[in-house]
Amino acid sequence: MIKISPSVLASDFSKLGEEVNSIAAAGADMVHLDVMDGMFVTNISFGLPVIQSLRKKSDLFFDVHLMIDEPIRYVKRFAEAGADLITVHSEACKDVRETLLAIRETGKKVGLSVKPATPIESIYPYLSLCDMVLVMTVEPGYGGQALIPETLLKVKTLREKLESEGFSLDIQVDGGISAKNAKDAILAGANVLVAGSSVFGAVDRKAAIDALRA
Ligand code: DX5
Ligand code: ZN
Repeated sequence: MIKISPSVLASDFSKLGEEVNSIAAAGADMVHLDVMDGMFVTNISFGLPVIQSLRKKSDLFFDVHLMIDEPIRYVKRFAEAGADLITVHSEACKDVRETLLAIRETGKKVGLSVKPATPIESIYPYLSLCDMVLVMTVEPGYGGQALIPETLLKVKTLREKLESEGFSLDIQVDGGISAKNAKDAILAGANVLVAGSSVFGAVDRKAAIDALRA
């Protein structure tokens, strides 16, 4: 089943609660929350208090993408703030295994992400600790960029690896996903699509979500 996770990075932050409710009503399976610290990536977005406030306004599944250095310092607090899935970057962790175990300990779903230049094979040792792998299809930090086509080869390689090992993990793609390339991402093996601009930028958000799923 294909799941759609709109990224609020492309939404109107002055009315974030309404924005999240609008995509829930439009059929989103989850909401993608991009946390950036100005260190792991050059941009700064939002953090714990925003997620905590949103949690009171929405029952949607919270897909939290941490683009922060040494995320192990914060996984417990993001879990308490309302995250349902916490994704960390392998490049941001001194100890990837410990970080994934710390997420597991919170009882939330565990995600591990790689930037476009990071070989997908580098995370193979951790697959048994994950519920989802996020293959970044743009350089993390900003919404509205174009998908880097080579990243879909990593998705394909990973899907083949998972199948050969009998793992049933989700593969998420994030960055530049639109109705134009969703099919390529799905054919490569992705089953969770993050989409910021193509959903929040659409006049009809339900049509945009349906188009991605189709
Ligand atoms: C980029 C973020 C993405 C971004 C996607 O660093 O991780 O989630 O918001 O936005 P679009 O879909 O506009 O590329
Ligand atoms: Zn993201």
